[in-house]
Amino acid sequence: MSAIPRVAVFASGGGSNFKALIEHQKTGKLRAQIVGLITDQPKAGALEFARAQKIANAVHAESDRKVREQNILATLQEWKPDWLVLAGFMRLLSPEFLNHFRDKIQECFRVVNIHPSLLPAFPGRDSYRQAFDHGVATTGVTVHFVSSGVDDGPIIAQAPLQILPHDTVDSLKARGLALEHIIYSATLERLWSEKWELRPTASGRRRLHWL
Ligand code: GRF
Repeated sequence: MSAIPRVAVFASGGGSNFKALIEHQKTGKLRAQIVGLITDQPKAGALEFARAQKIANAVHAESDRKVREQNILATLQEWKPDWLVLAGFMRLLSPEFLNHFRDKIQECFRVVNIHPSLLPAFPGRDSYRQAFDHGVATTGVTVHFVSSGVDDGPIIAQAPLQILPHDTVDSLKARGLALEHIIYSATLERLWSEKWELRPTASGRRRLHWL
């Protein structure tokens, strides 16, 4: 891997996390070379932003997963990323696809995701709403390695977010996204600049240790 990692971002939606990553990269808070944006949504806000900023981009909206992933891999062979950063990418990646990004030392994939809850609580879609409707006092955000499961894979960092008495789902989500933007870049920067390893836990999962 090069000293400054080459990073491809995957996004399906509005792209506020993608925008924050670009902003932090420009201001030096995130040392990374963002080589391009992959999206599965031709109308994604993230795509519009990439085009406006003249960041390399590719739309892979093929409905067949195998075909879509083959085409994404072809794009990535040109961009040669060291890491994939998922920022609101609404598709599961197959084990075959992930295997192309296997980290041989740590036995994980060099694919990272941000999820808007304190995993393992509230995986899946609409997690701010899930947390709000469940009535929990505290939710949060999680940055984790991607595995072939849904919002699974070893946790890299978590940050709590209190649900306030006057909150609505929308206000909670707005504060949550602002927190995501800070945590994502800070965690990636740490992951790429510090030493870490994944150690097995008694439950058969793995815990990240900063060395
Ligand atoms: C974020 O809440 C992210 O955690 C989740 O999808 C949302 C994407 O938002 N995976 P945006 O497109 O980055 O604004």
